[in-house]
Amino acid sequence: MRRAGCDASENAMGMTPEAYTQLVAIDDCHIELLAALVKAHKSRSLLELGYGSGRSAAALARAVAANAVPVRYDIVDSWADNQGRPWAEPGSLSPHVRFHAATEEAFVAACTDRYDFILSDADHAGSHKWFGRVYSRLLEEGGILACHDVLQPDFPNLFGIYKACLKYQIPHMLFHRSTLAEERCQRGLLVVFKTPGLAPVELPDDAAAI
Ligand SMILES: C[S@@+](CC[C@H](N)C(=O)[O-])C[C@H]1O[C@@H](n2cnc3c(N)ncnc32)[C@H](O)[C@@H]1O
Repeated sequence: MRRAGCDASENAMGMTPEAYTQLVAIDDCHIELLAALVKAHKSRSLLELGYGSGRSAAALARAVAANAVPVRYDIVDSWADNQGRPWAEPGSLSPHVRFHAATEEAFVAACTDRYDFILSDADHAGSHKWFGRVYSRLLEEGGILACHDVLQPDFPNLFGIYKACLKYQIPHMLFHRSTLAEERCQRGLLVVFKTPGLAPVELPDDAAAI
């Protein structure tokens, strides 16, 4: 993936791309799971909150390409990790991708589209506050919502999303086991299923607020 707006070897956080990827990228096994879900679910509309290193985006784009059907794939990033400067070129990722340079909060508040696959990995301080809205208004019935870092000790607020799944009996699976030295799966990948007939279709906007 070519990076735009960033010709130097460091980003605004003073990190090389490799160090930044090491810090923020979702674990490979979790990325493989997400890509397999998109392939098997045949998702036609995808929303990714938080581009980061682009590792998860690249895998989802490959999954979409493998399914060989047209999709809508929106990626939202305020480029907060690079002082607002984009460091990715949408065209080089997939012809289906549209980038939205916006905060997660503003995008979620204004969004009137629905998606059948959503990956949430952007606003780690705030996304629990509007989890209910994302689940109720942005996620299609039958859709899949994956939230990264729900067990990260630095963001105890995100654990509220897991607690909301328990409270509202929403089908989910939490992946958090590591077996390899380099893995950090304990950060927690929560996969939520909005299964018709099983899961509630509506939650209060602040269902996971603490
Ligand atoms: C943890 S990284 C995403 C990691 C990505 N899933 C990967 O595999 O590399 C978080 C991304 O969200 C962006 N971000 C942080 N706060 C944000 C906010 N409030 N609204 C939108 N994007 C935000 C950052 O610029 C960064 O690109």
